[in-house]
Amino acid sequence: MAKAASSGGISGQLFVSIKLECPRLDEFGLVPHVFGSHPVAGSWDPSKALPMEQEEAAVWGLSCVVPYHHEALDFKLLLKPKDNSSQCIVEEGPDRSLVCENNEVEARSALFKVNDETGVVECKVFLETEMLSPFDLAASWKTHQEYIQPKVRGAHDVTMNAEFESRTKNGFASGLELDLEKYLVPTPNMGSGVVYAANLTENPRSLLTTGISSNNDTTKGILHNSIKGDASTNLYASANKGADGRHVPPQEEQRTIFVDRGVGSPKFARPTNETISMSNTKISSEAKDMPAAEGAVAAAAVADQMYGPKEDRKLAIVLVGLPARGKTFTAAKLTRYLRWLGHETKHFNVGKYRRLKHGVHQTADFFRGDNKEGVEARNEVAALAMEDMLSWMQEGGQVGIFDATNSTRSRRNMLMKMAEGKCKVIFLETICNDQDVIERNMRSKVQRSPDYAEQTDFEAGVRDFKERLAYYEKVYEPVDEGSYIKMIDMVSGSGGQLQINDISGYLPGRIVFFLVNCHLTPRPILLTRHGESLDNVRARIGGDSSLSETGLLYSRKLASFIEKRLASERTASIWTSTLQRSILTAHPIIGFPKIQWRALDEINAGICDGMTYEEIKKIKPEEYESRSKDKLRYRYPRGESYLDVIQRLEPVIIELERQRAPVVVISHQAVLRALYAYFADRPLEELPNIEIPLHTIIEIQMGVAGVQEKRYKLMDAVNPTAGI
Ligand code: F6P
Repeated sequence: MAKAASSGGISGQLFVSIKLECPRLDEFGLVPHVFGSHPVAGSWDPSKALPMEQEEAAVWGLSCVVPYHHEALDFKLLLKPKDNSSQCIVEEGPDRSLVCENNEVEARSALFKVNDETGVVECKVFLETEMLSPFDLAASWKTHQEYIQPKVRGAHDVTMNAEFESRTKNGFASGLELDLEKYLVPTPNMGSGVVYAANLTENPRSLLTTGISSNNDTTKGILHNSIKGDASTNLYASANKGADGRHVPPQEEQRTIFVDRGVGSPKFARPTNETISMSNTKISSEAKDMPAAEGAVAAAAVADQMYGPKEDRKLAIVLVGLPARGKTFTAAKLTRYLRWLGHETKHFNVGKYRRLKHGVHQTADFFRGDNKEGVEARNEVAALAMEDMLSWMQEGGQVGIFDATNSTRSRRNMLMKMAEGKCKVIFLETICNDQDVIERNMRSKVQRSPDYAEQTDFEAGVRDFKERLAYYEKVYEPVDEGSYIKMIDMVSGSGGQLQINDISGYLPGRIVFFLVNCHLTPRPILLTRHGESLDNVRARIGGDSSLSETGLLYSRKLASFIEKRLASERTASIWTSTLQRSILTAHPIIGFPKIQWRALDEINAGICDGMTYEEIKKIKPEEYESRSKDKLRYRYPRGESYLDVIQRLEPVIIELERQRAPVVVISHQAVLRALYAYFADRPLEELPNIEIPLHTIIEIQMGVAGVQEKRYKLMDAVNPTAGI
């Protein structure tokens, strides 16, 4: 029975508007109807159901006015074929009750089992109420219509779900334990995680090869981890070593045209003496196996390659800023993002060079601006790091991120001179005036930095660091030269500003866009695959099938999990793909807005869509073979590659970075591999084989200490999920 709305002494009429939105109904020739208790529809007899009026191609509406002290208002939706009103398909699930009070919108999807072939069709249903005086009602009918409609019209991909309180209604009906920690399962290595970000930067090649090191060098102890956590370092090292294991010098003359800006696209090297003519552009068998360059990134790169000045093909992002301003954090984040997009990027941290060359025992005095020896020593290690970075660029590296305070103009001039003719330099200055943030950063630095690893008195460490900071402040010269990006008070994600000067080109533009959207507000991101689908059961890839019984059970468990996990959150949102299995998995979740992203749809398997891996192997052996050889770059004919998927997910990543409330992403295996690889900083080559099991939630915690992960397994997944 529906609850009668309490008037609280207001007299008047309650305007009730029911909207149903579904692009597929017209295609099936179905018309939505409403039937139910007086006074909404007047009868529970389906043959007397009231037809809804078609307002737009995919939107139907029905409105009525009821006294505010209304009777119980229970109703359901049903579909009738246009030409046969005696048949009807009643919506699944319990009756709807009009429990909303004045000025509220309630959203709950309606699911209709249309037929075996079509399966379940989901319609978005919005129920809106508004209290009107009789005068208002008469005078503003038209205005009211206009007021109601845009909300529905503008919300095609968004379903506003019921209010916060309604979350409590879900209960733990699916037998989920209240203690979520019970579902925790071990997590694979997350890369940077809570490790001090500077430790994961490039190893000082120049210092290691010359054998200069200090006895007190904790960097050495870190090398093992750092190499392990950075596959690109390993790849690079193996690719550039000669037979004797030493670095092979760059062979600039042999790589005049070097197109490597596609998202991780293979490197095409063409000798200089080769002339281009249409007749000799026959695709070699090797090139034929290579995928086309990947969309926008590659197109921009090719354009830069052909028209831009040579030195602009390499980019040095030189950090500038006082200590404890989040430079290393920003540098690490930018490195992760650019690598994920397929750009060869490395992070060089001058502090790591300093520690290796001079040890970790440097007190604040070493950083005094009038300590000539200290300044020289610091400039020397900065120059060594810059040299390493430039040599790496000569060998094929694309973006070098140079992480140090670089707080004086003379230091920056030195770096600019070194880079002249070799790469484009952009200064990235981080300015922070929030004393709380600075204090927090300082304490975190003293806690994690190898500089203070041997300091047993934490507060003494903080005092030393404050002294060091004061010395830097004395000589600090903000950037006002060259190309620069200034991030001013941007860490909180609210307010602050980003100033840019002399920035142009594809990659600098992307970097600015990324930085403008990043912040440090801690919030969880929950990633999960949809519940087991009917196609999963049949081992078919792609398609748009609905959920199996097991999948439906997962959707209920997931709703209970989310209700519990996000109980204390003021707000959150649920993102799904536009595919049924993802939408249906989100269906039982109530109390949060749901947003459908086309970009979250599963990898498009093109001509192989709907086949099993066995069938592909048998019917399309050459496709099977090509994919097994290079799963990252292989593009299904008329479909997508993993690289394509990454590219279409970039706006999703930007939005995930920008969000400050928790987000639950219910998507698909390939898509989640790509998203997960970004957060976990996993190399692209590994991405297509990352394990993303069904019925498991991966919780990514974004915050000041970097990115951390937890995995909750709610149910077993018995069906095959492995790809080629
Ligand atoms: O099998 C489930 C599925 O989501 C398919 O729809 C999709 O083609 C596949 O996984 C992606 O995984 P892989 O790239 O390993 O084939």
